Amino acid sequence: MGPNWTGHHPRAAWRGLLNDGKVGEHMQTKVNDVVSLERRGNVAVISIDNPPVNALSHPVREGLLASLRYAIADEDARAIVLVCAGRTFVAGADISEFDKPPQPPSLHESLDAIEVSTRPVVAAIHGTALGGGLELALACHYRVAVGSARFGLPEVNLGIIPGAGGTQRLPRLVGVNTALHMIATGAMIGATEALQSGLIDQIVEGDLTEGGVAFARQVSAEPRQHPRVRDRDEKLAEARAEPHLFDDFRASIARKSRGFLAPGVAVTAVEAAVNLPFDAGIARERQLIAELLQSEQSKAQRYFFFAERKSAKIPGLAADTPVVNVSRAAVIGAGTMGGGISMVLANAGIPVTLVEQNAENLERGLGVMRKNWEATAARGGSSQGQVEERLARITPTLNFEDIADADLVIEAVYEQLKLKKDVFAQVDRYAKQGALLATNTSGLDVNQIALATARPERVVGMHFFSPANVMKLLEVVRGDRSSDTAIASAMNMGKKMGKVPVLVGVCEGFVGNRMLAARGKQADRLLLEGALPHQVDRVMFDFGLPMGPYAMADLAAGIELRWRRRQETGEMDFIGDRLAELGRFGQKVGKGYYRYEPNSRAPLPDPEVEEIIREASRREGLQRRDISDQEILERLVYPMINEGARILEDGVAIRPGDIDVIWVYGYGWPTYRGGPMFYADSVGLAQIRDRLVALQAQHGDFFRPAALLERMAREGRRFQDWEQTRSAATVGS
Ligand code: 3HC
Ligand code: NAI
Repeated sequence: MGPNWTGHHPRAAWRGLLNDGKVGEHMQTKVNDVVSLERRGNVAVISIDNPPVNALSHPVREGLLASLRYAIADEDARAIVLVCAGRTFVAGADISEFDKPPQPPSLHESLDAIEVSTRPVVAAIHGTALGGGLELALACHYRVAVGSARFGLPEVNLGIIPGAGGTQRLPRLVGVNTALHMIATGAMIGATEALQSGLIDQIVEGDLTEGGVAFARQVSAEPRQHPRVRDRDEKLAEARAEPHLFDDFRASIARKSRGFLAPGVAVTAVEAAVNLPFDAGIARERQLIAELLQSEQSKAQRYFFFAERKSAKIPGLAADTPVVNVSRAAVIGAGTMGGGISMVLANAGIPVTLVEQNAENLERGLGVMRKNWEATAARGGSSQGQVEERLARITPTLNFEDIADADLVIEAVYEQLKLKKDVFAQVDRYAKQGALLATNTSGLDVNQIALATARPERVVGMHFFSPANVMKLLEVVRGDRSSDTAIASAMNMGKKMGKVPVLVGVCEGFVGNRMLAARGKQADRLLLEGALPHQVDRVMFDFGLPMGPYAMADLAAGIELRWRRRQETGEMDFIGDRLAELGRFGQKVGKGYYRYEPNSRAPLPDPEVEEIIREASRREGLQRRDISDQEILERLVYPMINEGARILEDGVAIRPGDIDVIWVYGYGWPTYRGGPMFYADSVGLAQIRDRLVALQAQHGDFFRPAALLERMAREGRRFQDWEQTRSAATVGS
């Protein structure tokens, strides 16, 4: 189909193009709905306008190719500038088209048209030139950008590699090391680095299009061959002289990319750039991306891309819901969590009043914060000046009255309901009207805490994960009385603090820890039946999680926390109680479910623990047996999925994708498995239901399939097709 010439001056445009083959001067002519063309003097300007991020959807590709042809055919156009409207240059291929049959023209056709053009084509870049967008720019003869522009090939985050020449062109321009870093890890670089590495030719001050046009005019006036990236070889030659480069790079990313297919394939593709002629390299890249596109991993990662974005949307919450504008915050409690939360606020530029009950804990908390910031500076993540600047944003105090000027108060005192209610009564007394009041409780009833104030509509849970300055997840807990403004404000603040906020309802453990508890129960049961901590943990590690339940308990003082809770509830747990009585409180004391060598975090199996476990089995009258890895996997993960289904039934989460986002960002669930609910789809809900039924027959009602899971399995449905949503007014109620 040819270009559809509609727009502001359709007839003039038609005539202009058809009669004398010239592009309209100083008159934007729409080539189609998303691409337009104009001429500024002797330079043709192609402009893409496909909000929100100018993704290379089918109409964009069509309009781009058509306008390139028109511009190239216009003999008065000595050069061509490619710009984008809106907030960014092209941010990549349109990911939502990946599962649909490809519609011509392909991006390759436009890139070829650019490359063979004898008139120079200049990409003028602002925002983020990502994926296919950067590849488009790489096919141009020149690239100019504003100082705030950023550049990247993040395809690896979608489980694929660049598929429009990026793996072949980028190393030719910026060198193999930088290219490997960008392509295999998805890292972006800024304009200054892009200029230094040769990715762009100029940083433009002032108006970008004007700057691009001026640059184009200048290069087109010079009697020279315009450079094509494909012809460059000097930086590849440098890499050929370094035989260990690729092996060294593979080793350097091994830990972070464990389990992921795409990073290794990305390295292979860049190797092809070094070892093969350009066209053969392009063919290799195409073959490699085609394989990855079909992989379960890429499907999971693409699903997750959209799940994460959806989780920010709360049905029923009006877009114009007013939010609290936070110019100052207060944090109550300077312990593990309060300290971390204060750091995050200060990192986001928000001054914090940090309230403690005693001077000693306050001092200690501030010391930990300084140490953490200094460690970041030592790693090169910030400057010493920034450490001081951030510390200066913290105002320590022992007086509650000092919270009076805070727009947001986050409570992070000990996990005791009575204490939290006392603290909230105080907060209510001193906090200004209109402030957002949040508790970081990991399990107490947010509704009861809210009722300790005279303004429960202002109270929400903001459940950060430990270490709060590192973990990205934030569960925003909606209480029965929380207002829309409170929810919108907490979500908004979460984002400002660099977190991924997900709205959940009130229940024991909220979403993440509630599912974790289901897994934990089975893990403990498996120990009694015959497994050992390191076997259980290895199965979870091999599945892709950063660690299993026992390594996690040792890291996060789990033995101690649970022991203290049992002392309150009167429950018994032979293994946990024995470990606690022996002072095996985890990594911080060098022993827990494992033992640890001094200064090492490596968990080592400990015969003392194994003896306790055997003793526990004897007491239960259980004959220990060999348990297969597959059984361990199913007994740990299927109950989580089942609990996830109950969470959806109860309306504690809005949608399955939100649960997946919680598990990826809160617990390190590997994105190449999408999340527990997506994983359930890939196993098949009927299969999971059947296995749960079998386990129920063997081990009891703990495994009884949730009604929702049962129904969806029967109807052949998948969690990822979930349409039913709950509004902000109903989640958690
Ligand atoms: N395709 C389709 N939709 C996209 C998209 C893409 N490449 N990139 C962003 N979107 C959509 C989002 O889904 C979101 O939609 P919504 O408003 O309906 O939720 C909207 O654009 C805005 O996105 P964000 O909320 O992420 O906006 P931000 O301003 O926070 O971030 C961004 C902008 C940095 C561009 C970020 O969206 C991003 O990283 N996008 C993905 C970039 C990417 O992965 N590009 C490579 C694609 S694969 C490719 O190009 C293959 C090629 O090699 C052939
Ligand atoms: P912590 O024991 O490290 O710190 C609590 C701090 O609160 C102490 O410094 C204490 O002096 C202070 N405090 C107690 N009463 C106070 C009062 N009346 N006024 C001012 N300060 C007071 O505890 P941690 O681990 O930071 O936990 C805090 C909260 O965060 C708890 O509700 C916990 O459940 C929750 N949480 C903890 C996570 C973790 O992994 N540690 C994860 C997520 C939430």
